[in-house]
Amino acid sequence: MKKLYNAAVLGCAHIAVRSLIPEFFNSPRFNLAAVASRDTSKAESIAKQYQGAAWGTYDEIINDKNIDLVYIPLPNSMHYTWIMKALKSGKHVLCEKSLVTEYPHIEEIISYARKQKLLLAENFQFRFHSQHAWVHKALAENRIGEIRIFRSSFGFPPLPNDNIRYSKDLGGGALFDAGAYPLKAMQFMLPDYNFTMKAATLYPKNSGVDISGGIYLDCPEGVVAELAFGFDNFYQCNYEIWGNAGKISATRAFTAPPGFKPHIFLETAAGTEDLEMPADNHFHNMLLHIAECLDSGDFEDEYRQDLKQAAYIKQVLELAR
Ligand SMILES: NC(=O)c1ccc[n+]([C@@H]2O[C@H](COP(=O)([O-])OP(=O)(O)OC[C@H]3O[C@@H](n4cnc5c(N)ncnc54)[C@H](OP(=O)(O)O)[C@@H]3O)[C@@H](O)[C@H]2O)c1
Repeated sequence: MKKLYNAAVLGCAHIAVRSLIPEFFNSPRFNLAAVASRDTSKAESIAKQYQGAAWGTYDEIINDKNIDLVYIPLPNSMHYTWIMKALKSGKHVLCEKSLVTEYPHIEEIISYARKQKLLLAENFQFRFHSQHAWVHKALAENRIGEIRIFRSSFGFPPLPNDNIRYSKDLGGGALFDAGAYPLKAMQFMLPDYNFTMKAATLYPKNSGVDISGGIYLDCPEGVVAELAFGFDNFYQCNYEIWGNAGKISATRAFTAPPGFKPHIFLETAAGTEDLEMPADNHFHNMLLHIAECLDSGDFEDEYRQDLKQAAYIKQVLELAR
């Protein structure tokens, strides 16, 4: 019988209410133990929808000795503080992207987590959608030959003015939000290539945060990567991998909801195949992965990914400046 871990959620964020809270509740490996909010009546009303879940303030959750893992879906600028509080109280952490808004914080967090043997995972659930396993397999089978270019875009139309993504103080901006995905996808789909960032651009708007941007990378293996993102854009959520014998395009790469069958296009000299992938639930799969990390106590791969992603984001900020 595998261990059931007690999970608690800090903040009734949209992403938590819509996806993670129900997934923790339904997960065979987690018990949704508690939900916290700045407004405990909000936490109470959410928690009551999930039998057995308690509610409280952020600090009550942090101080609760029964919690094994805290999920943090707070605005980006608050991640560092609450990650450290959770780790210092001996809890594992699953935190939303982007993990930190200042690079030195990630080094401090990872060093502390490693010393305490605690997990810190950044919530990029798309990694656990089976459509990407199909692409990895197609690459391994050499179906598009030698890889030449990786392209990825994530962007969407404007959000309401009071959205946290438009607040500089809350760690808003397109890079920390949408831009994090193409960067992550490049690392996840082509893990063996040593990309160096050559150029990056961020386009600001009145709010003081970046609204869109682009990144260009290359590597000694001869592959270039072109990444684009924004939130004043026609919706795009994709990547394409272009080889010398074909091209693979994933058209709903990051946000395929449970029940949705994403399409992948495989273009070769033989023609274009429109491949409907099976529906999958990347949130469910990710929680299974997190539980397996906790079972094994091996967090090094997540630490490595956390650091690498934060380092790329730091480079974008430096180059764009
Ligand atoms: N992985 C994904 O697919 C995904 C998708 C969307 C967002 N995200 C990430 O999840 C995080 C939250 O995004 P969201 O769109 O869900 O945000 P949101 O709905 O605005 O939620 C943020 C929550 O943080 C709490 N909070 C604490 N102090 C706050 C403050 N000063 N201002 C605003 N909220 C405050 C609030 O909860 P209480 O009032 O209940 O305390 C609020 O509901 C971000 O890091 C974002 O990048 C990830």
